[in-house]
Amino acid sequence: MTNVSTIIICLFVSFGGFLFGYDTGLISGIMEMAVFKDDFGPGEGRDLLSSTKSLLVSILSVGTFIGSLSAGHLADAAGRRWAIIISCMIFCVGCVLQTASHSLGLMLPGRIGAGLGVGLLSDLVPLYQAEAAPKHLRGALVSSYQLAITIGIVVAQGVNQGLKDHPGRASYRIPIGIQLVFAGILMAGMFVLPESPRNLLRLNRRDQAIKALCRLRGKHSSDPSVTEEINDLQRAIELEGQIGEASYLDCFKSPVSRRTHIGIWIQMFQQLTGVNFIFYYGTTFFKQAGISNAYTTSTITGVVNVLSTLPALYLMERIGRRKLLLSGTMIMLIGQLIVGSVGTAFPATLDDKGNVLSSNTAAGICTIVFTCVFIYGFASSWGPGAWVVPAEIFPLRYRSKGMAIATASNWFWNWVLGFVTPYLVDRDQANLGPKIAFLWAAFILAGGIFVYFAVPETKGLSLEDVDQMFDSGVPMRKSAGYVAKHKDEEFDFAGSGKDAG
Ligand code: GLC
Repeated sequence: MTNVSTIIICLFVSFGGFLFGYDTGLISGIMEMAVFKDDFGPGEGRDLLSSTKSLLVSILSVGTFIGSLSAGHLADAAGRRWAIIISCMIFCVGCVLQTASHSLGLMLPGRIGAGLGVGLLSDLVPLYQAEAAPKHLRGALVSSYQLAITIGIVVAQGVNQGLKDHPGRASYRIPIGIQLVFAGILMAGMFVLPESPRNLLRLNRRDQAIKALCRLRGKHSSDPSVTEEINDLQRAIELEGQIGEASYLDCFKSPVSRRTHIGIWIQMFQQLTGVNFIFYYGTTFFKQAGISNAYTTSTITGVVNVLSTLPALYLMERIGRRKLLLSGTMIMLIGQLIVGSVGTAFPATLDDKGNVLSSNTAAGICTIVFTCVFIYGFASSWGPGAWVVPAEIFPLRYRSKGMAIATASNWFWNWVLGFVTPYLVDRDQANLGPKIAFLWAAFILAGGIFVYFAVPETKGLSLEDVDQMFDSGVPMRKSAGYVAKHKDEEFDFAGSGKDAG
């Protein structure tokens, strides 16, 4: 039975993903704006130095990394709902600093502040969604977070494109400042939305949990399905209560250390696909590949990213997490290998200032097409998948901390790549050019092998069923079969896993 109110609430909360995506998509366009170059560049309208680019892009991830590691504590201390509100407030402080800045002195702390907020949200939103969604919709609803990220990226690209030739300082201030409105909307909404029923039960507030669940499901408390769901949750929580609260360190110990590693690695490999290379530095990359309208090409990749995320919402529940991740791996691999081969075989000739002197049109088109193929592969699989899997594999006692660790891994690698890639493609430094695609291809292959051996199928399982699957010791590559075998059974969480009838 479809829970319309659950869907609406989870979709609204994904707005946190929009903030994340907008921040990601914002910086590459801003760094190309003439007025921004005047304020932050070496002078005389020259391009920003690689070191400035690297600092501006990657400093955000320092904030997001710290934010995502603090999210577990905040979620448990303040509750899921208030934690989201506080994150929005922190984000707003960062935005105000950035909007007011004339120099790196204020811009950098502002980006760290915004990063803190985004990092917290990147963890809290999927956590809230995973706890609010019924199991048959969980994958799709958590994926809506990723959809919101992609929409945020493309909106930022659009706003930048519209303002890039604006002569005044507003050109880069408006795209930054507008985020205050977005954060305000999320914050206002969270004042009205219910707290996660799971969290309320954890705090022994059963009455409030029932009320929250009724609001989430749009049902009356007399509805038997409400009592049933609350009782299921209660049983799971009681069982976990007997074992106690987990710390970050506990996440690296038996019985969940394996799950923590799955979370860390899946997020690492997601970043190592090189997707943010396109979103952070795509404009420069396309320019170097001899593509004249590099700005528009970047926006095209943003649009492809949004559109390709849509099938994932459906496929996540239809074919399952593992098949989706593995098929996405193949598509990304093909995309990156062709981009690398074409770019290496038909390099563009550039002058000292990086202007294109000659290029092969067919090779340029091929680069655009196969970059889009890569984006399609990513957005329809690993994009949402790397967020969905960590949200599903941890028992409640470890969930908030375990997800925070996985998210921190995402941001750590996001930071590494944001920091390193300008040097990798800079013609005066490593000058990898299109060969960088081969590097991504190697990581993508490694990520595929990792999924095959280590990532479980969690489609259609309740968060409690997932525990049973891990405990059963079934090899992860056979977990899809395990799920198929058990999909019609009502698991008895505390018991043997037989039909509870
Ligand atoms: C995923 C990644 C994020 C990236 C986005 C692109 O959410 O975690 O870093 O920017 O996808 O769509």
